[in-house]
Amino acid sequence: MERQIVKFSFYKLDEAVFLRLTEEKQRHAKLDFIETVRNFRRRMLLRTYSLVGLRGDVDFLLWQVAEEADAFQQLHTAIRNTSLGPYLTMPRSFLSGTKKSIYNIALPEDRGKTEERIIIEPGDAPYLFVYPFIKTRAWYALPQETRQEMITEHIRVGRKYPDIKLNTTYSYGIDDQEFVVAFEGDNPHDFVDLVADLRHTAASMYTLSDTPMHTCINMPLAEMVDSLGGAQVADLLEEEVIETGGWLEVAQAADFRDGDSRLVYYGTQQVALFYVGGQFYGLNNRCPHARGPLCEGKITWNGHGAAVTCPWHEATFSLEDGRVIAGISPRDVESFRVRVDDEGRVFIARLEAIHE
Ligand code: FES
Repeated sequence: MERQIVKFSFYKLDEAVFLRLTEEKQRHAKLDFIETVRNFRRRMLLRTYSLVGLRGDVDFLLWQVAEEADAFQQLHTAIRNTSLGPYLTMPRSFLSGTKKSIYNIALPEDRGKTEERIIIEPGDAPYLFVYPFIKTRAWYALPQETRQEMITEHIRVGRKYPDIKLNTTYSYGIDDQEFVVAFEGDNPHDFVDLVADLRHTAASMYTLSDTPMHTCINMPLAEMVDSLGGAQVADLLEEEVIETGGWLEVAQAADFRDGDSRLVYYGTQQVALFYVGGQFYGLNNRCPHARGPLCEGKITWNGHGAAVTCPWHEATFSLEDGRVIAGISPRDVESFRVRVDDEGRVFIARLEAIHE
């Protein structure tokens, strides 16, 4: 399986200058930025987070995952060339890659069921906690068995917080830190408790550096841009959906293999796009029960055709029309129309928005 290269780009807006521009210029700059970043979603996995008001030194994060590092350079150059570019700096940036751990990350009670991922698959958690991490050189001088014991203890503590998902990537030799750790979680309290617990583990003695810490809030691109202040544009993008006859291009069909699912955006709305049995299907990504991310659900075939089961509490929905087939969802989930044109471009539309 291909390893991936990962980039955490933290940007800062020069608000003292940007917010003095006319509203029209602010709006133009934001829309230019959004259009540019949106186009890169075809080339890489790209998630957007706001840190406005949570840290003084950075305002937002673009979490990027790609096959080649040059995609990150091209995105950054394209951002510089937008009308928002002159007001942005990137005070912090972490480059890393996926790699198999040299430690056994399974616990004895797992009985071989734990699989290590070298593919980054961000979930839909509202928070992301990111920091660069360096171990002391004394750590590397310890015998492998001693380090393994400490790692096992560390993993055991982490298992007490099953709702926190850890994405560790490696930076040896390609950036200043050794690792970048990115924890996805539902709230800051669980993460505070987890980190406090980890301070008492033996491995903690071998931490050289684990700052700066970043608490990031998961936001769709347009909302993230609006969180910077100034003229608001998210509503304009909803109007743009209407101007395109209701259809929005969201993906390339060639990028999908049977059974794939992906998160795409319809304006500011998250949509789970599925490719099953030669057909595309689109459902509102938020499960009606408790907003679980359907794009991470399990796809099955049964007497009702293709279906997806919510990863959080296992409500099951038809991919055809979003109706509840099983489980505790109080209602059906919204379904989107999907079509593929002659050039293999995938478009989605909200049923009531289509006017052809
Ligand atoms: S959030 Fe989907 S079943 Fe609970």
